[in-house]
This record gives sequence, structure tokens and C-alpha cells, in this order.
Amino acid sequence: MLELDHISYAVREGESELGILNDISLTIDAHKLVVFTGPNGGGKTTLAKIIMGLVKPTSGQIRWNGQDITSMSITERARLGISYGFQQPPRFKGITVRRLLTIASGNERLSKDQCCQYLTKVGLCANDYLDREVDVSLSGGEVKRIEIASILARNSQLMIFDEPEAGIDLWSFARLTETFEQIHAAGTATMIIISHQERIISLADEVIVVGDGAIRHRGTAAEILPKILADTTAGCPVLTKEGALK
Ligand SMILES: Nc1ncnc2c1ncn2[C@@H]1O[C@H](COP(=O)(O)OP(=O)(O)OP(=O)(O)O)[C@@H](O)[C@H]1O
Ligand SMILES: [Mg+2]
Repeated sequence: MLELDHISYAVREGESELGILNDISLTIDAHKLVVFTGPNGGGKTTLAKIIMGLVKPTSGQIRWNGQDITSMSITERARLGISYGFQQPPRFKGITVRRLLTIASGNERLSKDQCCQYLTKVGLCANDYLDREVDVSLSGGEVKRIEIASILARNSQLMIFDEPEAGIDLWSFARLTETFEQIHAAGTATMIIISHQERIISLADEVIVVGDGAIRHRGTAAEILPKILADTTAGCPVLTKEGALK
């Protein structure tokens, strides 16, 4: 179980403080699939990075399976079974796809067949990619899918995927959605998926809408999707304000 207790995050901007996340509390039960969605800049990635330990909250507490992990490093959290796939994954010059999957799995004898299984789940063929370096020669969609494969190889208890759909073609996206469904059905991992895709939102046990650094709505996909659609057609507050941009 993951528990966030009054999490806030602020950065200094000149003389003043800019609040990015404001007093977020939530609990995610084991083996649930939860989707974070909401407008660009709402705070989803920051929240995911706080869970992974890439960003330190200004205040609040994070507990994982009852243990306070707020001051733990990324490595310590990874050892406790938490993993995060970046919205824009880093590249690793000099490291092959095979090596990356081997490191992620923690099994130095990871076979080609096993690598192939992970890559197939994200719509890639092992023969074409195993010996490629995870460098700038890979396309945006390829590097994104390889990173997702490395998270699957890690077999973590808590997997956080940040916009896994970004830059991924429709065929691979369908394959990936199936993979998320399978992991969820197996009931072995908790998943937080940050997504703007209706197809992924509809897989969720719970949808959490993050906007302006706070939780705006939460509920089932059936409850939340109509609210999101209503919000998105509400119009831009600057443009709709009387006399704006005249
Ligand atoms: N270190 C920082 N300094 C200043 N502003 C920051 C910092 N980190 C995040 N922000 C701002 O906080 C807000 C939330 O960013 P975040 O990346 O969490 O949004 P998001 O919900 O993931 O958006 P998107 O859907 O575009 O990925 C943004 O306005 C961003 O510019
Ligand atoms: Mg983001």
C-alpha cells in the first residue's frame, strides 16, 4: 500500500515561493491500477518523481507498505520494489538494449528468449534491437518502449509509468495496453499510470485528476471521464474573460 500524507512541493522563484503541489493526500491499495490524469503542468510528473525519490517534497510523508520512505534515496526505494519510467526517458550511450534489460532484471544470465518476451510486450522484435545501443540513434518511440520493457523486466511491486503512450504508434500502443491489462489481472503489482488516453483511463480501478498541484477529482473511469470532457470544453479563462485580448 502506498500512502501520501499532506505532500507539498514548492520552488523558489526570485523572492517568492511557487507552489507546485499543495497538500496532496492519497492512499493506493496493493495491486490496484490507478491513473493520474489532468491538464499539462498540473503536477503529475512531479508527484511521480516524489514517489520515486527524484524530487524531495517540501513537506509531507510517504509510506510504502507501512514504512516511511520520505527520506530514502532512489536506490533504496528501487530495492523496496518501486520503479519509474520517465516521461522523456534518458539515453545510455555505450549500453545495449540487452545489457539494459539484464541490469533491470537483476539476472546476469537473462536469456535472449526472456529479453524477447519483454520486448514483445512493447511491440519490439528482439532480433532488431538486442544489440543496439540505447543512444541517440534510437527514435523517440523506440527509446520510450525500451524503457517500458526495462521496467517490466524489473518486475517491481510498484510500477509508475509516465505517459507510456507518448510517441508510441497505434499498433504498439494496443500491445502495451494489453500488457498493462495482463499485469493488472495477474494481481502481482501496483501500477500508477500517468496518461491522457481514454483507453488507459478506462483500465483504471481509480482515476485521479491532478490540476493546479492538487487532486481535483477522483473516482472510477465511468465517473471521471464525463467530468474531464466537461472540463475540457469549458474554455480558456483568459479568452472568455470579458474584454480579454482586445
Ligand atoms: N523545478 C521546477 N521549477 C519551476 N517550476 C517547476 C519545477 N518543477 C516543476 N515545475 C512546474 O510545475 C508544474 C507541474 O509540472 P509537472 O511536470 O509535474 O506537470 P505534469 O502534470 O506532469 O504536466 P504534463 O501533462 O505536461 O506532463 C509545471 O507548471 C512546471 O513548469
Ligand atoms: Mg508530466
